[in-house]
Amino acid sequence: MATRALDQDVIRRLADHSLTLITELQTTEGAYPASPTFSAYVGYCWLRDGAFIADAASAAGAAESASRFFDWCARTLNARSDQIEGIVRATNAGRPPSGEHMLPARFTFRGEDGTDEWWDFQLDGYGTWIWALGEHLQRHGLVAEPYREAVALTVDYLLASWQRPCYDWWEEHAEHVHISTLGCVAAGFQAVLRHGLISGERRTRVEAELADLRAHLLSDGVRDGHLIKWVGSTAVDGSLASTVAPLGVIDPASPLARRTIELLEAHLTVEGGTHRYLGDTFFGGGQWPLLSCFLGLAQDAAGDRDRANELFDWAASTATTDLDMPEQVDRHLIAPGMQQEWIDRWGTVATPLLWSHAMLLRLGVQLGRISAHRPSITPEGNI
Ligand code: BGC
Repeated sequence: MATRALDQDVIRRLADHSLTLITELQTTEGAYPASPTFSAYVGYCWLRDGAFIADAASAAGAAESASRFFDWCARTLNARSDQIEGIVRATNAGRPPSGEHMLPARFTFRGEDGTDEWWDFQLDGYGTWIWALGEHLQRHGLVAEPYREAVALTVDYLLASWQRPCYDWWEEHAEHVHISTLGCVAAGFQAVLRHGLISGERRTRVEAELADLRAHLLSDGVRDGHLIKWVGSTAVDGSLASTVAPLGVIDPASPLARRTIELLEAHLTVEGGTHRYLGDTFFGGGQWPLLSCFLGLAQDAAGDRDRANELFDWAASTATTDLDMPEQVDRHLIAPGMQQEWIDRWGTVATPLLWSHAMLLRLGVQLGRISAHRPSITPEGNI
């Protein structure tokens, strides 16, 4: 049967390699490099990639590594408290800073901005890191104290900014409000409420804004019964599966989740490989194993474990003979004529990409195909 096509030994070796890459490439500061070798990513840690990598490390038993990443997030944000308070003050005074003066999407390993130009104003990672932190603290029974200041700064930043258009997961279309981005912010707000990471007036404000955000998402973020790529669009985007799982913003049993999953399968997925969106030209617009894993998590949450297993098998099939997982594979390219242009510009596709390895681990653990085999840290305190 297709769902068990892959040898369990291959899966075990791929899982070990994935966790080893994640923990060994983690820097002394605690950051996760997006990819150790890909020209445009070398030297940077993205909040989005890092948060999902930490979530996978936490779920796969490498809890200490995840804690070190969250400590890095906390240090990085606490060091920017003046900048964040300035952004919040200016926004509340009706003078929101332009995108270049907002917080970046990626940081150097020391938590600085770096000198390369980037499409930096992206809000999703700020929601995702506090979501992943909440999951991690709960999963391992850890204390929230070391993170409270950074969580408060992040929440204040998001409260002031979540309604703004910004670049999406793919660092494109800064002119739109992206539904996946709203999903990440909602997940972050839900997490800080659920895990008691904030209190007092801040908590009351988050409750109110979360209600507004959800209402906005469920009206302007929906068309013909499914979630859409951005407000005003009619299309879907592969990142939308994350709102169902693992982020838990959309009820997996709802017609909205079911219809969105159906469209992600029908419009963006060939065999088990999921594209980012129709019209993608990046490296010719291939299939992304990490998106197949997000879709697998959503399918599993919605009750279709067989399909989730097929998606997992497809994602695993993208590993190279060295067991490295790429950002994308050039099967069923949407825009084959664009592939060479990107290779000439940045070199061959990012491989290994730690986020791809992370999502394979996360789905594999969810499906019981990968065991959380590293010893967990003790519940007495944080590492
Ligand atoms: C992707 C981002 C990702 C970054 C680092 C970009 O090409 O569009 O989603 O965060 O690579 O992996």
